[in-house]
Parts: sequence; C-alpha cells; structure tokens
Amino acid sequence: MNILVINGPNINMLGIREPEIYGRNTYADLVALIEKTAKDERVKVKCFQSNHEGEIVDEIQKAYGIFDGIVINPAAYTHTSVAILDALQSVCIPAVEVHISDVSKREDFRQISYVRKACETTIAGHGLNGYVEAILYLKNNFG
Ligand code: DQA
Repeated sequence: MNILVINGPNINMLGIREPEIYGRNTYADLVALIEKTAKDERVKVKCFQSNHEGEIVDEIQKAYGIFDGIVINPAAYTHTSVAILDALQSVCIPAVEVHISDVSKREDFRQISYVRKACETTIAGHGLNGYVEAILYLKNNFG
C-alpha cells in the first residue's frame, strides 16, 4: 500500500508553535514517527507539508493513480478550503482527516471542517499518534 501524508500550514512549526496545544515534538519527529510506522506496517509512505493551499491541491491531484490512501491534516485550511475538499473528491482516494489537537473542544471557527465530507473518518486530539492510527486505519480498511 502506498500512503500520502499531507500536512498543511504551520505544521512545520511543531515544537515551536503553541507547545501547550501541539506538544514539544518537531515536524522532523513527526516524519520519523510516520516513517517508522510505515516500515513496521510494511506500507510505503510519502510525507508532504506546505503552507500554501494551491500546493496542497496540486499534491492531491498528483496522487491520482499513484497512492491508495491519504492521511491529511489540512491545519487551518480544514476550516476554510472548499478547494482541498474538491481535490479529495476528485481523486476518490480513501482519506483520513487528522488533527493533533481536539478541535471539537476549541474555538467556534474550528468546528467546521470542509474536508470531512471527503474523508472516511476523523482522528483528533490524539497528538502525533493520530497519524499512526490513521495509517493503521487505511491499511486495515483499504490495504
Ligand atoms: C490543527 C487544528 C487546526 O484548527 C489548526 O488551524 C492547525 C492544526 C491540529 O492539528 O490540531 O493548524 O489541524
């Protein structure tokens, strides 16, 4: 199985940004955790991070015919981006929405997720382990 892990804006600032919400691990730590999980589970993985909405749309489009699963934390674009929703619906690749924090317990503006409609499930509030759970979910259901 070939899984694409997409992280949106400011996820590259993990470890620096609001550690009381997102923890002290860095983006490099997250990539290492994802790569170890992929090795243990014998799946292939590519990690992609961008602060730009259009680049995330491009990456989802490029996944068509190549990847069998997408793990996506669109970060702030979760709450605003019809373009990312449309891209996920265009490629029809099983996707899992991940959030490091428990967005359901945060501000009102974080209660809307545009991408959720195109995702099989949502994992939120499990910290970096949410990405591990998302990979296992895709492997168990679509691998
Ligand atoms: C986030 C939650 C979003 O509301 C926020 O804009 C982020 C990160 C999370 O992983 O908890 O940047 O997606």
